[in-house]
Amino acid sequence: MSGRGDNYDPKQVAVLSEEAVEEMVADALAAFEAAGSVAELKAARAAHTGEKSPLALANREIGALPPQARKETGRRIGQARGRVNQALAARQEVVSAAELDQRLVAEAVDVTLPMDLHPAGAIHPITGLIDLMSDVFVAMGWEIAEGPEVEAEWLNFDALNIHADHPARGTTDTLFVDPIENHQLLRTHTSPVQIRSLLDRPLPVYVVCPGKVYRADEFDATHVPVFHQIEGLCVDKGITMANLKGTLDHLATSMFGDIRTRLRPNYFPFTEPSAEMDLECFVCHGESVGNPERPCRTCRSEGWIEWGGCGVVNPRVLAAAGVDPDVYSGFAFGMGIERTLMFRNNAADMRDMVEGDIRFSRSLKGEAR
Ligand code: DAH
Repeated sequence: MSGRGDNYDPKQVAVLSEEAVEEMVADALAAFEAAGSVAELKAARAAHTGEKSPLALANREIGALPPQARKETGRRIGQARGRVNQALAARQEVVSAAELDQRLVAEAVDVTLPMDLHPAGAIHPITGLIDLMSDVFVAMGWEIAEGPEVEAEWLNFDALNIHADHPARGTTDTLFVDPIENHQLLRTHTSPVQIRSLLDRPLPVYVVCPGKVYRADEFDATHVPVFHQIEGLCVDKGITMANLKGTLDHLATSMFGDIRTRLRPNYFPFTEPSAEMDLECFVCHGESVGNPERPCRTCRSEGWIEWGGCGVVNPRVLAAAGVDPDVYSGFAFGMGIERTLMFRNNAADMRDMVEGDIRFSRSLKGEAR
């Protein structure tokens, strides 16, 4: 029986002594414990379990030991390596779990937050302005009436006292719907809704009719073949031109603030007398009139700009719609929405109004939303 250290000099193998191996294990465990990240732990693993680690080097020394010492030393180093590997695995789990936790916190996405999948659009300025103008009338108790864009020729023309030989009936201005014998057309103004309203509604009638109208026009800065009007019609007992003037002045102030207006005599087949509602030029305020040094392009130095037509409803129109002109009278008006938009915003080019660029829509004051 041979005891420990009987036949070899323990100093020869001091590097493999129990204390030395314990120290290697303690060093390794301390290094693992100190490693705070997966990367640091990887470095500690290379240093303490890799080929050049103290324990690996010690393992290689075993072969050089006297045979009696090999077994015990081998077991000791084997156990030491086992403990180191176990500690490493345990630490690895802790470190990677912590790192994962950190990542989950750092990269957290709150799926409950509201988000815009699609960039928001904007109300088109024409639509916005139609709403603004209609609201002025709704606030006075008027109603909104609508009619079709493909309209009967009779409602668009005849009922409005526009005779068969009126130039506006020619195919140059009017877009007829095939076949022409059907007498259907794209309405050239919102005035046929006057007739529809009188036919549909009990008297008195107070309606505004905003909508699209069509004319065979060029497409340039001041013309578009499809544009918008707002028609107004009031038919009641005792209505006069004074009611018309008061109502349109109220609309003008609502749209343009403190502005001067005038009624200039004109002719429309469906009103008698008829007038054009002019606004004081919003650019020169009349200062260009008779002042050649300061000409105004907007009003051509006339001091006034044309806003829309109006007048006292022609008794023939009332009769065509079955209303007794001896009992009832009324006034009517029709304004271009695009024109109103140009005046309100000093917008010069009508093409901007059909292109649908959201930057244009957003740049406009009251009508942009
Ligand atoms: N319908 C006319 C046009 O398109 C505008 C108009 C003028 C409408 C006078 C009216 C009115 O109601 O009374 O040019």
